[in-house]
Amino acid sequence: MTENKMTTKQQHLQDISERDLILAQEIRDRLCTSVLGKQDIHCYMSTDSTNNRAKELAVAGASEGVLVIADEQTQGRGRFDRPWVSPKAENIYASLILRPSLPPEAASRIVILTAVAAAEALISTTGLTAAVKWPNDILIGNRKIAGILLEMDTEMDTIDYMVIGLGINVNSAAGRFPKIIREKTTSVMMETGKPFSRTILLCRFLEVFEHRYNTFRESGFEPIIVRWKALTNMMGKQVLIQTINGSYKGVIVDVDHNGFLIIRDDQGSEKCLFAGDITLI
Ligand code: BTN
Repeated sequence: MTENKMTTKQQHLQDISERDLILAQEIRDRLCTSVLGKQDIHCYMSTDSTNNRAKELAVAGASEGVLVIADEQTQGRGRFDRPWVSPKAENIYASLILRPSLPPEAASRIVILTAVAAAEALISTTGLTAAVKWPNDILIGNRKIAGILLEMDTEMDTIDYMVIGLGINVNSAAGRFPKIIREKTTSVMMETGKPFSRTILLCRFLEVFEHRYNTFRESGFEPIIVRWKALTNMMGKQVLIQTINGSYKGVIVDVDHNGFLIIRDDQGSEKCLFAGDITLI
């Protein structure tokens, strides 16, 4: 081999880094935000979990708005450490670093805000009727299309950093999902019958998120919760909620100022829940 001929491995590495740059550049070129995704976009062809990379960056001092994206995740995860199906070149796997001035118990507000932004981005770019399901899910009908995984580190009584992990199923076909979740899962392509641009959807999400985040900082949580209630069809529904402390039955009556769910049981007593899995009954 002559000196200026590349080995297959070198060519492969060059292709990867060029593709990395193109993906990040595509987002930069299109993105109309002031802060989010405007400094560093860390783009991986493959990584275990974008949340892991974002947490490392946050610990090293990365500022609010730094974004991590991946073409594929080898150990994508959801709430309660459930696996998140993350095949190559099909869907959005993104993690955003935030440093909000909030007490840790208010973190659920950011999950609610993220769900609103993800649903609104899906509605405005794809035309699909996306709805939010407390606390972390975005649905089309009764199938999940996107999920949110918030992880954070706290110091005394403030949040040091927060990582918002967002997975949106964009171009996966039904067969991609394990049988056990296939009936409950969907993607933009499954709903519309055609592939959709991940860049367009991710950029819209970041723009809507930034707009809602600014509203939240200027005017508080109330406008966000009003919007969230307009995007859910769970209010007034009879549900079973499984939490780490047990299961509860009741009617959903509200989401409070912290983003906690309020349910009322048959006896009329109300319970405030911080996290859990909802099933309609
Ligand atoms: C859930 O619905 O349980 C949350 C799913 C969150 C998936 C996203 S994909 C990007 C980020 N990296 C991860 O490993 N998880 C989140």
